[in-house]
This record gives sequence, C-alpha cells and structure tokens, in this order.
Amino acid sequence: MASHEGKPIRVALLGCGTVGTEVVRLLTDQAADLTARVGAPIELAGIAVRRPNKHRDVPAELLTTDAEALVTSADVDVVVEVIGGIEPARTLLLAALRGGKSVVTANKALLAEHSAELFEASDASGADLYFEAAVAGAIPLLRPLRESLAGDRITRVMGIVNGTTNFILSGMDSTGASYAETLEEATRLGYAEADPTADVDGFDAASKAAILASLAFHSRVTAADVHREGIAQVSAADIAAAKALGRTVKLLAICERVAHDEGEGISVRVHPAMIPTSHPLASVHGAFNAVFVEADAAGEMMFYGQGAGGAPTASAVLGDLVAVARNRVHRGRGPRESAYANLPVRPMGQTPTRYHISLDVADRAGVLSQVAAVFAEHDVSIAAVRQEGRVDDASLVIVTHAATDAALRSTVDKIGGLPVVREVVSVMRVEGEET
Ligand code: NDP
Ligand code: HSE
Repeated sequence: MASHEGKPIRVALLGCGTVGTEVVRLLTDQAADLTARVGAPIELAGIAVRRPNKHRDVPAELLTTDAEALVTSADVDVVVEVIGGIEPARTLLLAALRGGKSVVTANKALLAEHSAELFEASDASGADLYFEAAVAGAIPLLRPLRESLAGDRITRVMGIVNGTTNFILSGMDSTGASYAETLEEATRLGYAEADPTADVDGFDAASKAAILASLAFHSRVTAADVHREGIAQVSAADIAAAKALGRTVKLLAICERVAHDEGEGISVRVHPAMIPTSHPLASVHGAFNAVFVEADAAGEMMFYGQGAGGAPTASAVLGDLVAVARNRVHRGRGPRESAYANLPVRPMGQTPTRYHISLDVADRAGVLSQVAAVFAEHDVSIAAVRQEGRVDDASLVIVTHAATDAALRSTVDKIGGLPVVREVVSVMRVEGEET
C-alpha cells in the first residue's frame, strides 16, 4: 500500500441517494476538520449513480454511470458504497478490494450474504473493509464488538435493529390499533417504505443479526442461518395480553451462546417477543434502535440511537472513512473480524426460550388440569398461570419456563385440539427475564 503523507485521499462514492447525499454534504461541510483529523485532505474522485440528471446538487463533473471504471481507477484510494443490494455492489467491492482500495460500505444485505469472499479479498490485498453503518445506523456498535470487547467473552446480543417495525409496534402499543392500520400510518408518515416487506417480514433485521453474531462470536453467520419471523402476525390482542402482564412486544434480533449436548453453539434469530416493561429495550420507542450486549467481564451494556436516516447513517460512514483514511496515511490496516471460533448455529427447534400462551377455554371444572397435562406430557414447565372468567368461557394465560421451540409447537398443536379449548389466541416468546 502506498504511503500518502499529506497527499489527498481520493474517494469514489458509489450511490448518491438518501445516505450518499449526506456523505457528500458532510465531506464538504467538514472538509477542514476531516483534513486535520486524518492528516491529509479527503477528496471526492467521482460519484457513481444510475441517473446523473437527477443529481443537481453535486458537481456534475464528478458524476458517472461507469462505476466499474471508477472503482478500478488508479486515482482512487477508498471506495464508499451506498448503493445497496447484492449486485452490482458485490462485484464492484470485490474489484476495489482486489485492487488494494479500502472499502467502506453500509450494505447489510451484501455483508450478511457475502462477507466471506469480501474478507478474503480484503486479506489478500491488505485493504481495509469497514461497515459500521450496516447495523443500527449512527450507533457505534460494530467497532465496540470487534475492538473494545475483543478481550471479553460476549454471551448475548439482543436488540431492536429495525426502526420501521419498532415504529409500528410502538404505535400499536400506544393506540391499541391493528397491525394493518399502524402500517398504513407508518407508510403515510414516510417511516415504512412503499414496499415494506424487507422490514416487516424481518429480512432487514435478519441481515443485521447475521453481522452482529459473526462479530460477537467470531464465527461465520449468514442471513440464511438466521431464524426469521416478522411482525405481520402480531395482533392487537397480543399487545393487550402483553400489557396485562406488564410486558411490551418488540421485534428482537437475538444472538446468544447456547449449550448443547454436542458442544457450544449459537442461536441467531429474529422474532417478535414480549419483554418486561422494566427492561431497557422496552423504553425504545418510535424509529429508534437499541442493542443490549452481555459479556462475561463487562456485564450488561446498551447502545442506543438513530438506526436509520441519511445524516445519522452518513455519520457512521464518515467515521469509517476517517478510520480507513488514517490507516492509509499511516500505512496501517484496521483490525478485521475473525471467524476462528467457528461455532455452529443451532436450529430454532433446539433453541430454548420462554413462551406466553393465551387461550380461550370453557370455564368449568377440570379444564386447567387438562391443559396442564399437555404441558407436562411435552416436558414444558409452567412458570405462571392467570385465568379470568367471563360469561360462559375464560381467558387462560400461561407463561412457561424455557422450552425448545419444537416442544412448544407440539404442545400448542395438541392444546389447540382439546375440546375444552375454544381458541389459541396468542403464542409469543418472552425474552429479557430469568428462565
Ligand atoms: P437509495 O436508494 O436512496 O440510493 C441508492 C443510490 O444508489 C442512488 O443514488 C442510485 O442512483 C444509486 N444506484 C443504484 N443502482 C446503481 C448502480 N447500478 N450503479 C450506480 N449507482 C447505483 O439508498 P440509501 O441511500 O437509502 O441506502 C444506501 C445503502 O445504505 C443501502 O445498503 C442501505 O441498506 C444502507 N442503509 C441505509 C439507511 C437509510 O436510512 N437509508 C440506514 C442504514 C443503512 P440514482 O439516484 O441515480 O438512482
Ligand atoms: N429500513 C431500515 C429500518 C433502515 O427501518 O430500520 C435501516 O437499516
């Protein structure tokens, strides 16, 4: 890698949308400070977009539609990718890394699927690959996991990493409205995208969970390894049932170490869950993100802030850009991730969690014992039971101790078939409490 020592660091920006526009603004507005912090000016060498005519706010001479030529140009030191998606981002970043150019990207979808080949290319050429903005926007989270906690043993990472779904669930909780009504409101206010599938079905959070688990547990985890459930099935009844028991419903990304007969593994999952209203994540409202980390020596920590938006995300991109630029000026290389632990991802069926089950049952003698017998038969231990009688039936709420997903599913299937059970109203995992 060539030394720079005062020579400008030349940056190719790929994409100039919500995030890219803010990257250009910060680079321009803070040019003098950035030069002082890096030890060399940071200059834009070019900006690759699809439709140059649309971009009237950036210097026309910087715009190009030939992203490939830009990333392979000898005049470029660092490539910042804010296009999103897999292709052409993957091919462009591999070309950049193979050519020895440092890369900064906000692209969670790409990293959650192709981190292995990107890191191989980065190792082969010795170029940096930084991606702080890919998870939880502005919140400094990946660097603390990769660097500050590198001497500790992380046991659990649990967070709200998708602002759109948190906005919807917070809205349902505060108004009692249905999922469909609240999604409509979120779309009208511009929080949910026109096609909200990636957010509401949990794909976005699953990509972020894969990245978090890889860093926290020094193992290679891809989006396909992540058990994923979205929020479309969360009903107003679920939210009300949670409230009645001092809990709230959140879409959580959970990465944790799990003991197993075959040795230690990890569970990586995204699903709605009830958490106690006293848990720090319960007070994260609207489109904010927060991630709760537990480590052996450090104990519990929480990272909180804006997980999306042009300026917050550009803040994280600029932080990475300054880091890789400094590395180039000083001929160094930043710390990289490692996958040495190679812990296997356990299937969801083997993952123990607690459950909240709400049933409509006939209100007569022996009903509770019939229901309890099914739990016992499947070795699912009951932690609490609450029954409320109504006119001719009753609402029965059961909270279990930790049980595997497989055991719980068989239990609920059988309970649903009992003649005394009129309806299984809600089944939801409970997190953030002792097992
Ligand atoms: P946008 O859709 O707003 O912008 C994408 C940009 O990429 C546009 O400027 C588009 O050009 C350009 N582009 C698309 N395809 C090509 C191509 N083939 N060649 C060159 N340029 C292309 O995306 P965002 O800014 O919202 O997101 C960018 C990245 O940041 C994504 O990976 C996203 O996941 C991540 N991210 C975004 C956050 C957010 O809040 N928006 C938060 C955290 C991460 P044109 O404008 O000409 O169409
Ligand atoms: N769609 C994402 C969210 C953007 O709602 O959090 C940030 O990755």
